Order: sequence, then C-alpha cells, then structure tokens
Amino acid sequence: MHKQSDYFLKHIAQTSDAPLLLEIERAEGIYLYAKDKTYIDCISGIGVSNTGHGNKKIIDAVCRQAGKYMHLMVYGELVQEPQVQLAKLLTDNLPDTLNSCYFVNSGSEAIEGAMKLAKRFTGRHHFTALENAYHGSTQGALSLMSNDYFSNKYYPLLPSVSFARQNNPEDIEKLITTETAAVFIEPIMGEAGYLPCDKEYLIAIRKRCDETGALLVFDEIQSGYGRTGSLFAFEQYGIVPDILVLAKGMGGGMPLGAFIADSSVMSCFMDNPVLGHITTFGGHPVSCAASKAALEFIIENDLHKKVSDKSELFKSLLKHPAILKINGKGLMLALTFESITVNRAIIAKCIENGLLTDWFLYNENCMRIAPPLIITEAQIHEVCSIINSSVKEICG
Ligand SMILES: Cc1ncc(COP(=O)(O)O)c(C=O)c1O
Repeated sequence: MHKQSDYFLKHIAQTSDAPLLLEIERAEGIYLYAKDKTYIDCISGIGVSNTGHGNKKIIDAVCRQAGKYMHLMVYGELVQEPQVQLAKLLTDNLPDTLNSCYFVNSGSEAIEGAMKLAKRFTGRHHFTALENAYHGSTQGALSLMSNDYFSNKYYPLLPSVSFARQNNPEDIEKLITTETAAVFIEPIMGEAGYLPCDKEYLIAIRKRCDETGALLVFDEIQSGYGRTGSLFAFEQYGIVPDILVLAKGMGGGMPLGAFIADSSVMSCFMDNPVLGHITTFGGHPVSCAASKAALEFIIENDLHKKVSDKSELFKSLLKHPAILKINGKGLMLALTFESITVNRAIIAKCIENGLLTDWFLYNENCMRIAPPLIITEAQIHEVCSIINSSVKEICG
C-alpha cells in the first residue's frame, strides 16, 4: 500500500532533494505528534506558531467565523467585521502614525505591497536593503536580497537596489539618498542567523530617512507578534517605521500578512490609478478572526512580556564548548557551531531525539531556536536537555 509520503514525493511540488518527510497527525501546544513519535516544535513552523498549536481561543474564532462567512468579495469593497476588528486592535496597539492596514496573504506579498506603496508615495524607485536580509521569494522581494544564491536564476530583477552592511554607520549616508524610495530593515535579521540591529544604527537610519524623504520599512514578519519581548520589535528601538510589515505569527496559524502605514501614505493607492494593490483573498475573514484572537491571546496572557526571561533561561541552560555563540533577541535565538557539517549533524540528532529545529538560509553554521511563546520553564529545561545531549552525542 502507498504511504502518504509516497504521494507527497510524487504529487507535491518538491523544492529540495531532502525534505524532512515527517508525517504529523496532530499538534498541540509545543508538541507535534506523528504516528509513533512526538516532536517538540522548536521553530514554530519557522516563526509562525507563536501562540502554540491547537490554541483553543484561535480555533474557536476560526470556527465561529467560518460558520458566519468565508470569502465574500475581493479586497477593499465590503465592510467585513473580522478585518475591521483586527485593524482596530492592531492600530490601538501601534503608534498613531501606523493607523491604516492593508491585509494580504503572506509575508512576500506584504513586502511587495510595501515596495509599491513606497514607489507611489515618493515617486522614486530606488530601494536600500541590508546585506544578507531575507524578505521573501517573489521577484520584488528577491530584488531586496544581496545574496544571489537564491535569486540569480531569476534575473533580471528590479534594477535599482543598494545593499548596506548591517550595523555599519558608514553606509547610511552613502546608500540612503534623496533618490531612495524606501529602506527595508529586519530589526533582527532572520535568515542571516537572528542578528539584531544596534539601536544607535537604527536611530541613525531613521534620521537619514527623515532627511532624505525615504520611507523606513520594518520587516517584522518574524519579529512581530511578541517574539522578541514586545508586541513589535521596533518598540525596543525607540523609533517608529513609516511602514510596518507583518505576516507569519500574525495569522495565529492561518495565512495572513499586512503592511501598515499612515493613512496619508496608504491613500496613494486610491487614485491615479485606483486599485494600487489588488488581492482576491488578502485579509481573508477567517484569517483575520484568527489573527485577532492570536493578538488578544498574547496580550491577555502577557506572552510577550515573559519572552525575555524565557530567552535568558535558554541561554543559561544551553552549555557545551561546541556551542560557540548564541545570537538573537527574545525567542529568536541562534546557536553557532564551528561548521555546516557539525550543525547539520546536530540538527539531525535533535530531530532523532524528538526536537524539531533547523538551520538558516544564509547562515548554515547556526541552529534555530524559536519555539512557540507559550513554552513553559519546565519545557525549556526539556528542550535544552535534548539539545545539550544531542550536541554531546555529535561533538563528545
Ligand atoms: C523576515 C521575513 N520577511 C519575509 C518573509 C517572507 O514571508 P512568506 O514566506 O510568508 O512569503 C519571511 C519568511 O521567512 C521572513 O522571515
């Protein structure tokens, strides 16, 4: 008899020759249940399941909304309560200048929307991004990525992008000019191995954007929704971006993204021509209901406020000479090992020992620790004990 994995390999488009091939039947809290094995989810489906799997509040919101209505009409025509309520909750928790939400389906699409909006608002087409940033897999987002390993087969991409070195103030004046439409920043660079930007550096970028009229866009697709110890990472930097981009954890497990700006900026999409960005499914009512429930759950349980202590506990428990460094902020942590080979072997061993983790697209010496934010102290002990013993099994 054929197994599901046979059909998966035969009929599901493959993107590598080494998929994980785990068959998960059920997920709850931080646990993923296969037929004969349980895994701890230490990566939250790559920064998504912040509120844990099978979250009752989110499931209830999804079921309630699915029972009322699902898709009714393309984006921006009908007043759909779940969208409106989510926008209200989000903007109530954001500074005054981030008051208008455009909901889309994914992170990449939100980045595309932010790029288009910056072009419309400034009348410019030049972008600046950080070296080794990851902003998504569509062609606009790929243009913002300096590392051409994943993009060079899709050339030509957008022609006018400059890349600044993270935390290097020398590049700011040179690469952000009166020609720049927008500067795209991940406050904690995800696929580079969870490398946080320095506060002074981001303040200097904010200042330079103000001087030149470039818009400052924060890609908080991974760092938003509580992951770094505040609802949004920018709050810890004392500056406000012109456009905030969200996705991943935002959907509470459902597909959703957003770019959020001041209505004076967002209104550029309204005329000359109208329909500046169009989406059929963006802001799907069920996804918006899930997202609102997820944000409420984080706020009601102070999940974001407990992240720093949990992060410190991880750092204090992960001890082995082979762990050269721990980068990151909050529950975006990256363990550095001496080589790709060692890292890959440790990741494979962790999975064998029942802990799902991963490497980074642009930093293959590093292992990802980004569990659901609901993880308890006892569970952190359990996770660290599996990681420490897996490291020991590989490195001695
Ligand atoms: C920082 C960041 N930006 C953008 C994206 C793209 O999001 P999506 O995969 O939902 O298109 C990702 C996805 O990993 C991301 O981590």
